Amino acid sequence: MVSGTKIAEELHISRSEVWRLVQQLRNIGVEIAGHPATGYQLEAVPDLLLPDMLLPFLRGTIFTTVSHYYKIGSTNDVAMEAAAKGVSEGSVFLAEQQTAGRGRGANEWHSAQSSGIYCSVVLRPALPPSEILILSLASGLAVYDAIQEVDSRVIPDLKWPNDLLINGKKFCGILTEMNAEVTRVRYIVVGIGINANQTTFSPQLQSVATSLRLATGTEWSRIELCAALLKSLDREYRRLMEGPGARESILRRFQERSSMTHGKRVQIVEESGRFEAVTEGLDDRGFLNVRTSNGPQTILSGSIKTIE
Ligand code: BTN
Repeated sequence: MVSGTKIAEELHISRSEVWRLVQQLRNIGVEIAGHPATGYQLEAVPDLLLPDMLLPFLRGTIFTTVSHYYKIGSTNDVAMEAAAKGVSEGSVFLAEQQTAGRGRGANEWHSAQSSGIYCSVVLRPALPPSEILILSLASGLAVYDAIQEVDSRVIPDLKWPNDLLINGKKFCGILTEMNAEVTRVRYIVVGIGINANQTTFSPQLQSVATSLRLATGTEWSRIELCAALLKSLDREYRRLMEGPGARESILRRFQERSSMTHGKRVQIVEESGRFEAVTEGLDDRGFLNVRTSNGPQTILSGSIKTIE
């Protein structure tokens, strides 16, 4: 234990100010035992995604600016607003907690405090809007590689277009949003949500959602995972922008790492309704080919559910 008086003297502040700061630190998850009469003891520092901790890992990547929020509506909203105001490509927005986390369609993304990664990045690719699906598929591959880099025993399954699953349950979703002219993208925001250390889910989510912690039985360092994620996103993005053959490589790797893109009976859920089909791989723009009772069809949006 360190007495409040000693801390107050060293910081040249009053004891009541020390108490106020201790409470503030507790509110952001720092575990401090004690009170003014006994003194204080630091017990655990939370795994916060602080820019000063992350930036050293990101040297040489496009991700040079990181903004961090303890509590925010949605990192995608903040990133879209910042992009509209002109922030540079590679700006990263991270939150410990989202109060209005958004998923694809009208879905919510549950974003409990400091247990997941809620990350949005601004990109300004010189691509037409029709190419953005490929970039979005590449983001899924980036998450896959990041997971493997941190723990090679975990082998996720990619679900077209943008989910990552373990043992059939979702632990990561990606929401890619853009502002574009017909032939030119002005900016895109790739928003990635990863369930890292959640130990429980609501009754509605329990049967479909999991976290890395639940799947592996161990606590994951969010800072390590987030650094690995941004580094592999940087690799995929550069390859796509610079490398000839990148698009073919993305389509090939996505299909290799997905159990669902070939020969699976699925239910396609679109805004207009749902129907059954068998998957037949991705076309060269990244859309999903399926065969229905009425013949072949290409799925442009919506989501798929496997039928056992
Ligand atoms: C989905 O699977 O439906 C996509 C989920 C995307 C969630 C992430 S969390 C960070 C970013 N901010 C949001 O509001 N959504 C994305």
